Amino acid sequence: MSSTLLLRAENISKSFPGVKALDNVQLNIEKGKVHALMGENGAGKSTLMKILIGMYSADSGRIIYKGHPVSFRSVHDALKSGFSMIHQELLPFPELSVAENIFMGNEPVGAIPGWIYRKRRDKNAQLLLEQLGMNLNVTRRMKTLSIAEIQMVEIAKALSNRAEIIIMDEPTSALSDREVNLLFKIIDDLKQRGIAIVYISHKMDEIFRIADTITVMRDGRYIATHPANAINRNDLITMIVGRELTTIFEKKDIVPGDIVLSVKGLTGEKFKDIDFSVRSGEILGVAGLMGAGRTEIANAIFGLGRIYKGTIVVKGKSVFIRSPRDAIQYGIGLITEDRKNTGLVLSSSVKHNITLAALKSCCNGPFINKQKESNLADEQIQRFGIKTPFAGQVVNFLSGGNQQKIVLAKVLLNDPDIIILDEPTRGIDIGAKTEIYRLINALAAKGKAIIMISSELPEILGMSDRILVVHDGRIKAELTGTEATQEMIMQYAMM
Ligand SMILES: Nc1ncnc2c1ncn2[C@@H]1O[C@H](COP(=O)(O)OP(=O)(O)OP(=O)(O)O)[C@@H](O)[C@H]1O
Ligand SMILES: [Mg+2]
Repeated sequence: MSSTLLLRAENISKSFPGVKALDNVQLNIEKGKVHALMGENGAGKSTLMKILIGMYSADSGRIIYKGHPVSFRSVHDALKSGFSMIHQELLPFPELSVAENIFMGNEPVGAIPGWIYRKRRDKNAQLLLEQLGMNLNVTRRMKTLSIAEIQMVEIAKALSNRAEIIIMDEPTSALSDREVNLLFKIIDDLKQRGIAIVYISHKMDEIFRIADTITVMRDGRYIATHPANAINRNDLITMIVGRELTTIFEKKDIVPGDIVLSVKGLTGEKFKDIDFSVRSGEILGVAGLMGAGRTEIANAIFGLGRIYKGTIVVKGKSVFIRSPRDAIQYGIGLITEDRKNTGLVLSSSVKHNITLAALKSCCNGPFINKQKESNLADEQIQRFGIKTPFAGQVVNFLSGGNQQKIVLAKVLLNDPDIIILDEPTRGIDIGAKTEIYRLINALAAKGKAIIMISSELPEILGMSDRILVVHDGRIKAELTGTEATQEMIMQYAMM
């Protein structure tokens, strides 16, 4: 056994009703190393981590930590032993202050009067954050922080608990480039301190930037572990999807038809004088940095935000869109960026989520036609290849990629002519991404007008016929799909 080995998970299995989430999985974690965990949506990555930190218990297998078998009964237990996890779905305590959150469950008890304690605690919290290069007012409530700030606080909390293993589950999915760079600097610093990082991400570039070791899982099974510098991108993709992916973007030549949507002088709180149009059969990419105002523009067109001035013309007719209901009536569909909050009812079933938007077509008078609802849902589950044990499964239990497919299925059920996709592949594995790209191309081929907002430049370049670059609420450039390069887009995006 190598002396730097910190943790060894052996033969871990875990089943949920209808799914074998983990089947005899293994993992070795070393001190001071970044161990990347990769695999398609639903491969079992998050489940394995939740077992390590005592959130779930394994059906079988053992975890050896520093040479001894351990089994944590709770997350608190694990935390005390040096295990911290920064979750994929962040679960901070919204009403606590930053300092309270950092030292939660970790307060010294005894004779210290409350106010002295609070002062000392706040000071310590501040110091911890400063060590991470963060300047944050520690009396702020958690709910007022950005996602990047919440992560930093969670990392500070891990440090205050003397973490030896920090698990990061898709930490960068909602971070800007600058924030990602800061996080990576912090990860380097954590490594120097001998802390082991388990890093889950679908982003190849990130993995090759920071991982020392890569483990791949597929369908709940362990596939392989390799040093990051011993494999290349293609090998990795092949291991993840279990087959070779030759073409990721399968673009057909489509001659765009008539203009279906145009906006003129569109102005709202976060955007100004937006002019553009999109034709049937065309994919219009919208690039820009996080916070540039792209989501706000999409929301406004979908009736979700206030428009101060400007016009929206759908198929030659000027329209007023005051609500999503209006937008849907005019044939507009929006796949939102934030599927957790606006796209899905997480506590509800797959079936219910898919048919929610189309309940009308299932209704006979006031009654829902149960049979019709089931048929519709089954059809969409088939069509989109949604991996769920049964149509009645609660959406919260599905993996991210499968949740995103449900959002797509739901919006497309209304057969919109204009489809706005906001970060359609965020948090989605490479195999499911390819499927979603194929789907978007097929929709364009059927004459749909597509507006695709994305922060991933390869995706923008690979998919778009035309590209708008948005910065600070304005369109800074319009490029054709063939002339655009990553450098050009970045230049305009930061102008
Ligand atoms: N609490 C649960 N109840 C029922 N099924 C679950 C639960 N948690 C996970 N699953 C199922 O277990 C499998 C593994 O899910 P897991 O979340 O671990 O995947 P993942 O690799 O993290 O995927 P992603 O990349 O999408 O986050 C999936 O089929 C998922 O639907
Ligand atoms: Mg996961």
